[in-house]
Amino acid sequence: MAAYSRSTKVLAHVLRCSLQWYGRRSIVSLSSLPETHQMLHKTCRDFAENELKPLAAKFDREHLYPKEQIRKMGELGLMAVDVPENLGGSGLDYLAYSIAMEEISRGCASTGVIMSVNNSLYLGPILKFGTEKQKETFIPPFAAGEQIGCFALSEPGNGSDAGAASTVARPSDDGWTLSGTKSWITNGYEAEASVVFATTDTSKKHKGISAFIVPKSATGLSLGKKEDKLGIRGSSTCSLIFEDCSIPKDNLLGEPGLGFKIAMMSLDAGRIGIASQALGIAQAALDCAVEYASKRNAFGSPILKLQTIQTKIANMALQIESARLLTWRAAALKDSGKPFSKEAAMAKLAASEAATYSAHQCIQVLGGMGYVTDMPAERHYRDARITEIYEGTSEIQRLVIASNIIKEYGYS
Ligand code: CAA
Repeated sequence: MAAYSRSTKVLAHVLRCSLQWYGRRSIVSLSSLPETHQMLHKTCRDFAENELKPLAAKFDREHLYPKEQIRKMGELGLMAVDVPENLGGSGLDYLAYSIAMEEISRGCASTGVIMSVNNSLYLGPILKFGTEKQKETFIPPFAAGEQIGCFALSEPGNGSDAGAASTVARPSDDGWTLSGTKSWITNGYEAEASVVFATTDTSKKHKGISAFIVPKSATGLSLGKKEDKLGIRGSSTCSLIFEDCSIPKDNLLGEPGLGFKIAMMSLDAGRIGIASQALGIAQAALDCAVEYASKRNAFGSPILKLQTIQTKIANMALQIESARLLTWRAAALKDSGKPFSKEAAMAKLAASEAATYSAHQCIQVLGGMGYVTDMPAERHYRDARITEIYEGTSEIQRLVIASNIIKEYGYS
């Protein structure tokens, strides 16, 4: 505990001091990053090794929300990595967030996605578009790990086509009344508040969508059944059902009609988080494969000596390290205030494919042992699969990448 209980406030201060020269440094490897990022990496790795890895199989098997671990992560500043300290966050940058996310997900992918949704999709839009009052109310407890938030965009009838939302929000005498159903909501079961997208003007299509902050206690909000998923089973996924759900006027987030842009900008950042989660899963699969291959003997020696196994290890490492560079590049662009939609989509696409590839190859290296729950390989395989689906499928990432490239060629 001592190794990672170092105050993140101190860490944040040192990191801020180093930011001025971090911009000039290369990000090609962990050892080329400022010492502060390396310290954060070690803090998260120790936490994941000691507090997450030993319990990840249990969280998965029993569909258990890692409540105590999330609370400790709040104390470490990991639930609000880029939120300023005056709101209870760590005041760090997105590169730091990516590094932390990867290490946490390497220990437990379920804990990783809970952290990612809280940081990028719940706190992110409130921090960027919220009023001072909204920030004071809806950020500190969620930064502390006492509460978590969620992001409600998808519906039973729309996923990839995010602009086709059918949930509506009508103005009432003293606020807004929401009606409709949001589906596939990560953290939905435990979330004390959600950022919800609903149409305030149906004649304007995506330009008529607005964003709202809805507390769990709002009258008319109920939860659907907890989904029984293939992977990331320690995190909850459910529908949010709004039946004439009343919220105060002040819970509108940003301007009316700005909702679609808020959703897209939040997802750009969220894709860096999911890319980092995927990297953690991919790295855990590579670790598992190498470790097993060093101990398993066949044809008179450890299978690690076989070229066919070495080819797999090389291919896994190549995909992981390429995806990590893309992810760090997207994070560094965001940190420097430059556009990063295309780069975040590239990072998420490459990292999620690295995760599914590496988890597949890990099982191949382990053979029968990879197919049973005695080893973590089959969990990595199940956990990896969702990274190609949520926060935009691989098909949507290719669409985002292509549309940006076409614009760069001047053919938009
Ligand atoms: N940032 C800011 N604005 C953006 C933007 C971005 N990244 N992308 C698009 N926009 C703007 C456009 O500039 C345009 O603005 P104007 O109307 O002012 O011209 C407007 O949004 C519409 O743009 P498009 O015509 O490109 O929009 P589209 O309807 O064709 O959709 C899309 C584009 C990329 C397919 C988008 O719908 C999308 O990303 N879909 C996937 C949604 C998704 O990721 N869902 C995941 C659900 S969340 C989740 O998984 C959470 C969880 O719990 C883990």
